[in-house]
Amino acid sequence: MEWNSAEKRVKELQDLLNKYNYEYHVLDKPSVTDAEYDQLLRELIKLEEEYPSLKSADSPSQRVGGAVLDSFEKVQHRTSMLSLGNAFNEEDLRDFDRKVRQAVGEEFSYVCELKIDGLAVSLRYENGLLAQGATRGDGTIGEDITKNLKTIRSIPLKISEPLSIEVRGEAFMPKGSFGALNKVKEEKGEEPFANPRNAAAGSLRQLDPKIAASRNLDIFLYAIADVGDTEIESHSEGLDRLEELGFKTNKERKRCENIEEVIQYVEEWTTRRPDLSYDIDGIVIKVDSLDQQEELGTTAKSPRWAIAYKFPAEEVVTVLRDIELSVGRTGVVTPTAILDPVRVAGTTVQRASLHNEDLIREKDIKIGDHVVIKKAGDIIPEVVNVLEDRRTGEEQEFLMPSHCPECESELVRLEGEVALRCINPKCPAQIREGLIHFVSRNAMNIDGLGEKVISQLFREKLIVDVADLYKLKKEQLLELERMGEKSVDNLLEAIEKSKQNSLEKLLFGLGIRHVGAKAAKTLAQQFNTIDKLAKATKEELTAINEIGDKMADAVVAYFENEEVQELLIELKQVGVNLEYKGPKLVAVDEIDSYFAGKTVVLTGKMEQLGRNEAKEKIEASGGKVTGSVSKKTDLVIAGEDAGSKLTKAQQLEIEVWDEAKLLEELNR
Ligand code: IVH
Repeated sequence: MEWNSAEKRVKELQDLLNKYNYEYHVLDKPSVTDAEYDQLLRELIKLEEEYPSLKSADSPSQRVGGAVLDSFEKVQHRTSMLSLGNAFNEEDLRDFDRKVRQAVGEEFSYVCELKIDGLAVSLRYENGLLAQGATRGDGTIGEDITKNLKTIRSIPLKISEPLSIEVRGEAFMPKGSFGALNKVKEEKGEEPFANPRNAAAGSLRQLDPKIAASRNLDIFLYAIADVGDTEIESHSEGLDRLEELGFKTNKERKRCENIEEVIQYVEEWTTRRPDLSYDIDGIVIKVDSLDQQEELGTTAKSPRWAIAYKFPAEEVVTVLRDIELSVGRTGVVTPTAILDPVRVAGTTVQRASLHNEDLIREKDIKIGDHVVIKKAGDIIPEVVNVLEDRRTGEEQEFLMPSHCPECESELVRLEGEVALRCINPKCPAQIREGLIHFVSRNAMNIDGLGEKVISQLFREKLIVDVADLYKLKKEQLLELERMGEKSVDNLLEAIEKSKQNSLEKLLFGLGIRHVGAKAAKTLAQQFNTIDKLAKATKEELTAINEIGDKMADAVVAYFENEEVQELLIELKQVGVNLEYKGPKLVAVDEIDSYFAGKTVVLTGKMEQLGRNEAKEKIEASGGKVTGSVSKKTDLVIAGEDAGSKLTKAQQLEIEVWDEAKLLEELNR
């Protein structure tokens, strides 16, 4: 075929197939048979192979999955992907409603949606084309799984307008595909997936996109991430807008005017849940108005304007055979129930944490009891209660030991605590658990160093403290069980990479008492280097808003310890970064700028700066840029074609500038 006619035909086929895709997978209204679709797709793939320059980013041929990747790149989310607070019953829902009403008054609506049981993903479009798709990860940094996401037919490779926009949704595996997949797996003698969520997550985490392509995944989009840059005023408008752009949204959503209607919706779907072709694990309830969402704000982890109602977990009965003890990183001794293996919520459960002695007494748990088990949050097995009427008299009471099961030093119960602790700082169990914590995701995040490898390294005395991790040699690692050349190389690379982490990861990893991931970040941001933090006094520490007495004492005590000081020297020697690398903290009152401490809304088109740039500049000058105009807004910058936000600003008599004035002030 001539190049010219090939170009024309390829374009034609791409458009046609994209249209058929949309009709079939988004609208659920196919206009051609699968056979016709496949034939056209084959024709397209053949032509694109002949003329590779005609292959475009939005070509439907991309959906079959291309080359295998080595690893996934990390992606920093432009706005963080929060999770939701949970409600487990009507009372929790009414509680949530009360708080919403306290904050915004009586005039508001909710939108209820099904909580799809899959995994959250973020899709970024540049000029209308799908540019990147990522997992949620820790909410701030996810993984680039674009190639796998492109295989999901209901994800448009191109949206109906040439916009640059980021959208969020839940990728999932429909029940039918899940059943079929597990059947094949079982026939092959492979371990089946526990549930559709794991199957979806497992499929999207494959480095070979052809696997994802074979898994029949689907998606519902539920939010525009950068909605602040649009004229949209409510969550429901956002969902309508998503549909206009060609995205698949879930149709079962409903606007509810009050909590009674919400509860009715929850009850309705508790009954109808089995009839759906996909799994849901609850209902998400969101305040509709974006202004009101903003008024309610968010906590560190989740928005105050939304909540997830979780369906009650499946419960099963089994026998508790024994109670085992383990010593944690902080010396706490935790009893664990050893159970007769039992299937619950998709996996076989053999152990359940009993947390502490008080809980064993409270629930009157004895060895040999029949117990009811469920998975809290569908993940963590727990003993709900004992079936007393099934006792035979043979059951045995369990007594906590007086000495540490690992190092035999005497256990103590600290004042005000329910836990028993081993307070021997040299207790091997504590050291091992501390090492496991050090490499975990929110700490130094060293891929390939799980509990098993650490335990082995520790047992073989290859590591005693965290600095030793950085002294491991290839030959030593090759000696370990199940460690090949390739995994050793990967591991060493991951260890090397972790040296560059910003200070907060190290601080959290060191396991200073009372210092969680968030406090670690605050400390890193405030003190910048570990040396400065190590010299901080209690007064300097408690002067920081989020640091209380208990934490300050713990930090001071930690750095006074001589062994800690030696450890820091060692870490420095092996090349671990001891400085904070994140955004700098500048006290608002130290910034000499008009914008310092002001809340600014950008609306309309910016000719010279562009929205993102304008936002960055205002923020760098100490201002806060938000998405919607409210009483709290100090200033609105209205570009070309500004709409309802400008009108609202005028109604509320808020100061309005044009872009020229903004530039003038920024360049002053
Ligand atoms: S909204 C800030 N809507 O549930 C609000 N989430 O913890 C972000 N999910 O991570 C979530 N269906 O993976 C929202 N209709 C829905 C959802 C939904 C499922 C998942 C999502 C999120 C988790 C909530």
